[in-house]
Amino acid sequence: MEQLLSQLQEHKKEITAAVVANAEQLEAFRIKYLGTKGLVKSIMGEMKNVPADRKKEAGQLLNEFKLFVEAHFEQLTAAVQTESADAADATDWSLPGQPLPIGTRHPISIVHNRIVSIFQRLGFSVAEGPEIEDDWHNFTALNLPENHPARDMQDTFYISKNPDWLLRTHTSSVQIREMQKKDLPLRIICPGRVYRNETISARAHCFFHQVEGLYIAENVSFADLKQTLYFFVKEMFGENVKIRFRPSYFPFTEPSAEMDISCLICGGEGCSVCKRTGWVEILGCGMVHPSVLDNCGIDSKKYTGFAFGLGIERITMLLYQVKDLRLFSENDVRFLKQFSNA
Ligand code: DAH
Repeated sequence: MEQLLSQLQEHKKEITAAVVANAEQLEAFRIKYLGTKGLVKSIMGEMKNVPADRKKEAGQLLNEFKLFVEAHFEQLTAAVQTESADAADATDWSLPGQPLPIGTRHPISIVHNRIVSIFQRLGFSVAEGPEIEDDWHNFTALNLPENHPARDMQDTFYISKNPDWLLRTHTSSVQIREMQKKDLPLRIICPGRVYRNETISARAHCFFHQVEGLYIAENVSFADLKQTLYFFVKEMFGENVKIRFRPSYFPFTEPSAEMDISCLICGGEGCSVCKRTGWVEILGCGMVHPSVLDNCGIDSKKYTGFAFGLGIERITMLLYQVKDLRLFSENDVRFLKQFSNA
């Protein structure tokens, strides 16, 4: 009997010290002490060993122990419930989420994407080439041999490790790379970044973006070039914009032309943007020079083609009336966030 008493005493201590922090631990507590194979049940089984004259006393003790355990379990249950209710209260699920600023597309990217999608509708696919180019692809193959005066207009940055390498001055070098694959007919546009050794100002920068266009097949004519560019201008600037071609010179095309559109600002009346002429130049173009085709191993007697090159910054400035080229690369969010995510 004494032994039973001290045993119960020990169990009470252990139970009082039990740590129950969550629903799982509460259930473990219940199974351990109040379950069908738990402590209370097994200790009740001890009754049979108690001599008959002390059964009443032992019965009382055990009953009291059982009530103690049950009461303690109830206390613990209440504590766990309040704790989880508190935790739920701490999170207000109705609060709005933390907004993540997703930013806006860069104006150059917006215009780049529009140009690409217009030409894709005409069946042009996109080709890309390296920004670090060799002299041959950037100049020589395009009919600009060493010491050719036209190279002066396109001074660039050279890689000191290998003077044959330079930062490409135009995307026309991608024409050459694609023509060398001789997978004809060829109908591509080549968008990308180009570099020039220029003093930075509102109208010039040491890097900018161009889109080159190239179509090589049998019987391609200047009429195809004009029609393609007409379509592009109407899609890009709207139905009412007028177009004119002026004869020009590029070593890699013959004949060559520059294309102007009627000024978007004054509608052709004459203003400061169009220098009072009513026209703004937007691209250079022409029929691919036969020796450029030959340089790439294409039979210039069988194939002809047209090419054009335009500056994305220039078109973006016209569309959005941006007056200073430097704004595109200064990363000033006040400027950049004004453009929609189109
Ligand atoms: N590559 C010329 C430039 O950067 C632009 C150009 C003019 C590209 C005429 C052409 C073209 O393909 O036919 O100034």
